[in-house]
Amino acid sequence: MSTHIMKEGEATFTLPEFAEAPTRRMKVFYNPVMEESRDISVLMLQHHRGLSDRDLLASDLMTGCGVRGLRWALEVSGMGRVMLNDVNELAAEVASRNVELNHQSSLVEVYNMEANQFLALYSSPKRRLDVVDVDPFGSPAPYVDSSVRALRNGGLLALTATDLSALTGVAFDACYRRYGSRPLKTEYAFENAIRILVSFVARVAAVHKMGFTPRLCYHRKHYVRVYGVLKYGAGEADSSLRNIGFILHCVQCRFRQPSSSILNGKCKVCGAKLRVTGPLWLGELSDRETLASILKDLERRGFRLKTKVREMLRRIMEECGMPPTHYVLDDLSSVLRIKPPRLETVIERLRASGYRACRTHIPGNRLKTDAPVEFIKYVLKP
Ligand SMILES: C[S@@+](CC[C@H](N)C(=O)[O-])C[C@H]1O[C@@H](n2cnc3c(N)ncnc32)[C@H](O)[C@@H]1O
Repeated sequence: MSTHIMKEGEATFTLPEFAEAPTRRMKVFYNPVMEESRDISVLMLQHHRGLSDRDLLASDLMTGCGVRGLRWALEVSGMGRVMLNDVNELAAEVASRNVELNHQSSLVEVYNMEANQFLALYSSPKRRLDVVDVDPFGSPAPYVDSSVRALRNGGLLALTATDLSALTGVAFDACYRRYGSRPLKTEYAFENAIRILVSFVARVAAVHKMGFTPRLCYHRKHYVRVYGVLKYGAGEADSSLRNIGFILHCVQCRFRQPSSSILNGKCKVCGAKLRVTGPLWLGELSDRETLASILKDLERRGFRLKTKVREMLRRIMEECGMPPTHYVLDDLSSVLRIKPPRLETVIERLRASGYRACRTHIPGNRLKTDAPVEFIKYVLKP
């Protein structure tokens, strides 16, 4: 078998085949585009270790060649044990070889099991884990129940979802089937995708009398990523559930309104029928303290993608405390039949009028603000 030798972060690893644009049919999956996601996972585990009074037991549940978990072992100080798992026998073999190559056999174990079976091994009280990272092909939904049951009180759950056609409403039925939520094709559909996933996790956790609080959530390229902490207790579950609701949206004039009920009715701005999306998470998606901590840690790291990671995390920080949903200037401008003004100018004008306004971490001409849509349109007009 031919072998490719790769380097990412502090890890050196081998792959039986390499492709810049990998497919799930590859013998062992490795996507170079996800380096940034793995960088951020290093920062998040280091932050989580800082909050904990013991070394971390962490599972890279769907490890592929093992690079994610190997990087934790090599780059996060205070790891107790890292468990790499993959259902693909060859992936587990390659991951084992990569563990040896990096001299990490004392810290890293490799398993070749179906993810839910693996997690069942860790769901009894004395065996639970500090971190579970679920990085599947497509939706993480089938693994959420097992993941929350395998986490300790205060444990960190990390999820990747690449089924964005479902979560953004292109494949409505798939979203309803997997997450029990109605998606909506809107200009803020990627943000909604995150909110639908977080609300799903919170509802599954609540079944087990656990509360889920997101700490860092973002959309990038072909995926969304959610990090959050589980807290045991019916009270925690109930207060987490209070963040779940709906968004009522007007496709005519772009008015939108968070709501605790699905009683839609008419748009109060233009009178058109409102659409409903949800249930979804209406609370904060990221946490300022977590962001400040990982941004600080980032500065001492030698990540190849440091500048990009810093820029995205700073943008997410700006979004903290802002209301759900956002606007796309080109879209609002097309409703008004005008040429889109500069985003910076609109932000300045809104701020000068006493509203909060910022860009989003999601690329494009996107604006987050607490100003009502009529006022944004007023500001947009030449
Ligand atoms: C997107 S890749 C993971 C990439 C890896 N986490 C990384 O950062 O390089 C998804 C992996 O999940 C594995 N997988 C798919 N379904 C699984 C299941 N039910 N249980 C365990 N592993 C599974 C696949 O074999 C594949 O290696």
